[in-house]
Amino acid sequence: MTRSITNSTNITSQTKYKFPEAHELCKEFVLSKKVMNEVIERLTKEIKLGLAKATHDKATVKCFVTYVQDFPSGQERGKYLALDLGGTNFRVLMIELKSQTDVKIISKSFGISKELMTGPGQMLFDFIAECLSKFCTEHNVDKKKEIPLGFTFSFPLMQQGLDRGILKVWTKGFICSGVVGQDVVQLLDEAIQRRNEIKIKIVAIINDTVGTLMACAFYKCNCRIGLIVGTGTNACYVEKTQNAEMFEANHERTPGGKEHMIINSEWGAFGDNGVIDFLRTPFDKQVDEGSHNPGRQIYEKCISGLFLGELVRLILVDLMQKGAIFANQESHSIQEKGKFLTRFVSEIETDISGAFDYTDCVLNEIGIRNASDKDKACLRYICQAVSTRAAQLTACGLVCLINKMDVKDVAIAIDGSVYRHHPRFHDMLYINMKRLLQKDIEFQLILSEDGSGRGAALIAAAATNSKMNSK
Ligand code: BGC
Repeated sequence: MTRSITNSTNITSQTKYKFPEAHELCKEFVLSKKVMNEVIERLTKEIKLGLAKATHDKATVKCFVTYVQDFPSGQERGKYLALDLGGTNFRVLMIELKSQTDVKIISKSFGISKELMTGPGQMLFDFIAECLSKFCTEHNVDKKKEIPLGFTFSFPLMQQGLDRGILKVWTKGFICSGVVGQDVVQLLDEAIQRRNEIKIKIVAIINDTVGTLMACAFYKCNCRIGLIVGTGTNACYVEKTQNAEMFEANHERTPGGKEHMIINSEWGAFGDNGVIDFLRTPFDKQVDEGSHNPGRQIYEKCISGLFLGELVRLILVDLMQKGAIFANQESHSIQEKGKFLTRFVSEIETDISGAFDYTDCVLNEIGIRNASDKDKACLRYICQAVSTRAAQLTACGLVCLINKMDVKDVAIAIDGSVYRHHPRFHDMLYINMKRLLQKDIEFQLILSEDGSGRGAALIAAAATNSKMNSK
């Protein structure tokens, strides 16, 4: 789905009020074109370090090879199971590829509790196996027949094959013990064996960015980038295999070998070595210090859903201490870490000009009554400052990848709650990319429907067929 652009990206001209204290705090969130170009240049350098064998180990932007080298042909057919783990929800899906335009999906979501996110890894994988088993019972899946399964596992994974991947580090609040350094496919397989109820063959493990790209490439042939702006952020892109040195190093280059490889950039870690400190604000540093993984995922912490609300909250707390907003109002929610949700940012920015209907609902939820219109306008201004910078930084990342691929026309498949629900994110992304890209480059931003599920099924289909063909 390609969206049209509205003219709603100018944040300063929308209010008659002045709030000098908020302006002062937020001015560092405004990125000039010069700063954005600097970000592009630095990210390009980090990507090259991640790709090269000599520097990969120390690189922060890992650029993992994915072992996905083919795009869907559009001819993939059959029934596949998929698992999607990567945020606060876990999903089991049954996907039937009937034709290019007829894809039947049945899915069920299961919440991942705090205990599961932070407990022993075995507990998490047993839970996944249990959900899978329940799903198969509910949908009468033949438990005797070995069903191919694609596992979308959206964390930094060093792949050693399409069906083997070592977790390098957890992100997004997960810290389960005993998983880092292990092959995640094996951990899942063992959990399925322990239950001994269903026959499943895990044929592929993929990142959500790769699933998103694949799902879109099934229909659109110039799709070359998969982007997620949700709880976390990341992008994958198509690289020349000869530049994917970590693949080349481990696999003899066969004559006539495939020319391209999808690279999972893991760009969320950009800045973990200090290279974007020049644009970070004191609030970014506070968010980082209060997180589960201080010093890590620095770029992600400026962009993604797990952190945008918290950035707004910290600015609000500062302004409240100065008496510059919500004077004489008490709100326990605002004082508590994580209580200002990124969903609120999207809702507040949905109000246009003088209206505050959504803002009133949010204020009600966080226990602030009787706020003045000036305070509400100020709150909206803060949200806009934080989300505009997030979109600008995402634009820098995409421009960097487009320039690296050196293509003139490219479609970008996108998913994630921030991109989906924030009313201006798409437009801001588009406008900033236009500002930063050379004039002759065409691009389309496409919402990829359920990429994590469909993409996993498509890759599972390709993997199953290639094994059958090579028999
Ligand atoms: C993970 C990526 C993932 C992204 C979006 C990041 O925290 O490291 O693997 O693609 O979130 O879900």
